[in-house]
Amino acid sequence: MACSVVAHILVFFLIFVNLTPAAPMVEKRPATSSGEGLSLGKSRKRVFPVTQTQEPDPISEAYSYCNTPNRTEQAWEGHSPADYKLLSVHVMIRHGDRYPLYYIPKTKRPPINCTLSASRKPSHPLLKTFISHMAQGGRGHWESPLASVPRLPNHSACEMGELTQTGVVQHLRNGKLLQQAYKQHRLLPSDWSPRQVWLETTGKSRTVQSGLAFLYGFLPDFDWKKLTVHHQWSTLFCGSSCDCPARNKYLEEDQRRQYLLRVADANLERTYATMAQTLGLPPRQLRAANPIDSLLCHLCHGLPFPCVPSGDGSPRCLTREQFAVIRQQQLDDEADRRRVGLYRKYAILAMFPYLNRTAAKMERVAKSSEVGRQRRADEVFTLSSAHDVTLAPLLSALGLERAQFPRFAARIVFELWRSPPVPPGPVRRRGGKGERSKANSRDVFIRVLYNGEDVTFHSAFCRSHERRVSQPLCPLTNFLTFVRRDMFRVVNATSYSEACYRRFD
Ligand SMILES: *[C@@H]1O[C@H](CO)[C@@H](O)[C@H](O)[C@H]1NC(C)=O
Ligand SMILES: *[C@@H]1O[C@H](CO)[C@@H](O)[C@H](O)[C@H]1NC(C)=O
Ligand SMILES: *[C@@H]1O[C@H](CO)[C@@H](O)[C@H](O)[C@H]1NC(C)=O
Ligand SMILES: *[C@@H]1O[C@H](CO)[C@@H](O)[C@H](O)[C@H]1NC(C)=O
Ligand SMILES: *[C@@H]1O[C@H](CO)[C@@H](O)[C@H](O)[C@H]1NC(C)=O
Repeated sequence: MACSVVAHILVFFLIFVNLTPAAPMVEKRPATSSGEGLSLGKSRKRVFPVTQTQEPDPISEAYSYCNTPNRTEQAWEGHSPADYKLLSVHVMIRHGDRYPLYYIPKTKRPPINCTLSASRKPSHPLLKTFISHMAQGGRGHWESPLASVPRLPNHSACEMGELTQTGVVQHLRNGKLLQQAYKQHRLLPSDWSPRQVWLETTGKSRTVQSGLAFLYGFLPDFDWKKLTVHHQWSTLFCGSSCDCPARNKYLEEDQRRQYLLRVADANLERTYATMAQTLGLPPRQLRAANPIDSLLCHLCHGLPFPCVPSGDGSPRCLTREQFAVIRQQQLDDEADRRRVGLYRKYAILAMFPYLNRTAAKMERVAKSSEVGRQRRADEVFTLSSAHDVTLAPLLSALGLERAQFPRFAARIVFELWRSPPVPPGPVRRRGGKGERSKANSRDVFIRVLYNGEDVTFHSAFCRSHERRVSQPLCPLTNFLTFVRRDMFRVVNATSYSEACYRRFD
């Protein structure tokens, strides 16, 4: 079907197409009186570069893409002004570190062991029990075809695309981090009910296993019997609304742009030619093997770049300089892609179904939290385990195009908050009679975080929102209006169906 074809093309073109931001972004972060917990002070550098005194170094950018789990990470999830109540959390993750999808002909594959062992580094305090829990996966409910996907990576020589132990540890850490962030807000009770937790994943073993590792770190009590693992057949998580001819057209146009930019890069052409010569391959064959994918794996795992034996006895190897040239071209491509804007149009249409579904969930949760309602909402926590080709368009659709390309185990988090009840009085006058429910929905707010950094006020739906002392967060209604109407302005339309089925001349 159209979508899987698109997804496939995307995987080919985008997996490592662009890894990082290139341009500076002005930060406006006015302090708020109640902002003690808000992320106003720190953590600006990684997601959005503030200063740009020098060109980004492609090698150090690549290391940040690896996301090696060897340092403590700051996370601004769960921070709010005092007395705000956390209503729900919706998370989209990229799978963790994986083995390459391609290998470079004539070279040895990177020697990585994809079985799990608590005594191998990097490890995690939860790894041992995670392994034994996953062995009982048969007790969970699995939407077909997920039941046949292995619950753990388990090959002593990794298969192509297989999640590594690093990838498992990255998501155990993510889950644990968010568990701690939300603990004081009592998002989920230890006896959480099946309706409160929603897990969905594509059919790849690396996304299934990443989602399980995240949830194992996150849930106060991981209980297979209560868990249903839902399947998303499209990497766009578009469910039954995937059909959208215009989306495919924008993508094709952007891929054409990308191709033309690449062939115009003389330095890149020369580099591929040298690399091909080193390995004794036709340049075409080397390019088709997408060598950057494999080289990144070497870099992330501290392995030397591949070599081949030569006639005179000293091996000939691929070099960091060559790697840096390819990566630099990817950075240039990202800047060009932003400038041209076709990808953003693609992204709006690609991510509407997911955003529309998330918006509807938030609205339901907000409603059931209104004053006077007793029942606690279902759908308190959603986890979507996805790919770079999911997170990249999601960032773009949200207007976060300058954010860093989704690294391994990247996470995008939406939080829904309700402000404390305001005592009646002249402080905040509301509409007349019959406005109760509206007034209620005005007290609900959204935060968006990317890799732990609060990016709410960089997003298209809240960029121009003036933060006030009385309203330091972004109103949910901004988000709802954006998703249901405003974001289609980018494609000169007012709705998904109009944008998708418009005739192109
Ligand atoms: C973490 O690993 C990266 C390489 O993957 C290395 O560059 C960095 O120095 C390490 N950091 C610490 C704190 O060990
Ligand atoms: C991993 O594979 C080995 C050998 O194929 C098997 O004995 C073991 O039970 C597997 N472990 C898990 C957790 O699936
Ligand atoms: C992979 O790791 C497992 C567990 O540590 C070990 O038993 C096995 O021998 C390793 N395989 C290889 C090929 O190194
Ligand atoms: C968007 O969500 C609404 C529910 O809020 C649903 O009725 C509608 O069908 C969705 N639209 C698309 C195109 O998926
Ligand atoms: C936007 O769409 C309207 C009608 O659908 C059309 O008249 C107008 O020319 C379009 N504008 C652009 C810039 O394409």
